[in-house]
Amino acid sequence: MIRRRRSSIVILSILLTFTLSLLTWIEWEEEPLYELPDFLHPFQANQSSPPSLRSSATLYDSNFSFSLNLSEYSMQYPALQSYRCRAAIDLFGYCWTNDPLILLAVKSHPASFTRRDVLRQTWAREKKIMEYRVKPVFLMANSGKRHQMERVVKEAFSNGDIILWDFLESHHNLSLKERCFLEWIYHRCPEAKYIFKGDDDEFVNPYAIVSYIQHSLPPHPLEIHGQLQIHPPPERSGKYAVPFSLYPHGHYPPFVSGGGFLLPGELIPSLYLAASTIPVFPLDDVFFGFLALSANITFHHEPRFCSFGLKANRLCQYVDVLVVHGLTPKKMLEIWKYLPNTASCPPSERTPTEDTKRKTLVK
Ligand SMILES: *[C@@H]1O[C@H](CO)[C@@H](O)[C@H](O)[C@H]1NC(C)=O
Ligand SMILES: *[C@@H]1O[C@H](CO)[C@@H](O)[C@H](O)[C@H]1NC(C)=O
Ligand SMILES: *[C@@H]1O[C@H](CO)[C@@H](O)[C@H](O)[C@H]1NC(C)=O
Ligand SMILES: *[C@@H]1O[C@H](CO)[C@@H](O)[C@H](O)[C@H]1NC(C)=O
Ligand SMILES: *[C@@H]1O[C@H](CO)[C@@H](O)[C@H](O)[C@H]1NC(C)=O
Repeated sequence: MIRRRRSSIVILSILLTFTLSLLTWIEWEEEPLYELPDFLHPFQANQSSPPSLRSSATLYDSNFSFSLNLSEYSMQYPALQSYRCRAAIDLFGYCWTNDPLILLAVKSHPASFTRRDVLRQTWAREKKIMEYRVKPVFLMANSGKRHQMERVVKEAFSNGDIILWDFLESHHNLSLKERCFLEWIYHRCPEAKYIFKGDDDEFVNPYAIVSYIQHSLPPHPLEIHGQLQIHPPPERSGKYAVPFSLYPHGHYPPFVSGGGFLLPGELIPSLYLAASTIPVFPLDDVFFGFLALSANITFHHEPRFCSFGLKANRLCQYVDVLVVHGLTPKKMLEIWKYLPNTASCPPSERTPTEDTKRKTLVK
């Protein structure tokens, strides 16, 4: 009797488990969220980020004031404020070199295997240009998809150029990528003399970056260089919308397009401090504008950061630009192949004319 009851309990629990797993399976359209496995956390060393120093802030520039109310940010974007950066795949000693180092930091989504593959065949590979050592690093987080993340782990082990944090990839979590990257570079890569920050769907010209550092940057040695946006109004609908309750102001502070900018390593400590103290804004390029404002760092506008794409799109234009947004892998390979044998455009055509169609905030 007892035996029978026990077996019916067993059958019942099997059925229940089956139903539950079926339900979970139906609930997730694709597959359950993928937790990074423990073996990806070999260094559980207490990295002991200090307790959060974050508080509300009111920042001023010459024309406007901007209040960031931490209670609102914590209510609407709790993870952005409280997440403690934990690298599941970290890079130690990555920046040790005898040459002055230029780090090319590329935000990439785990799913973009083809893009990273093409970048490693073109501009995102370690090389020496003039006296500089140029090194790429891919900044990634967890996509929550097992098949992708297992491939990413293999890719990271064979290329050694990926940092993978354990937060979930999402549009708003790109601000976490910004914040964790600042933390990483502060602790692991203080050697970086210059940092270029870009995306994986771009053409980046490392030769033009070195030339820019040698000739155009010196008059503005402690600024952030890029495609400047001066006080644009916040969008209230669409992908880049920010609710009025979070940000009631009519303007953003100045910031550079997240599609590509350049800064000297000396600025990292003050930016990292700002990133640990002010509320984290849910759009990464605007967040960087707030960081700069808080750290009392100004921007320098440079049109050769073509974060919105090129209009005429002639090969000779790619010789002088630092970055061009929105290229297909095929086009990237083609340009890279012909670049060494291409001369600059004639002076009259040299200043790039941007494609102004996409004059919204481009990430
Ligand atoms: C990590 O460091 C913090 C602060 O230093 C300390 O309070 C905590 O106990 C440490 N945790 C472990 C697991 O050692
Ligand atoms: C600030 O306001 C003044 C006068 O309204 C204007 O001339 C100037 O361009 C503004 N500066 C910025 C950075 O917007
Ligand atoms: C910040 O936001 C909270 C929650 O909405 C509100 O109660 C508080 O008054 C705000 N503080 C300021 C200084 O506006
Ligand atoms: C951002 O990452 C955190 C930490 O992994 C996660 O809890 C949160 O859901 C993510 N946000 C979004 C919008 O995916
Ligand atoms: C900000 O920097 C400027 C120089 O760039 C300096 O004159 C000013 O005193 C600084 N302000 C603060 C609050 O540190």
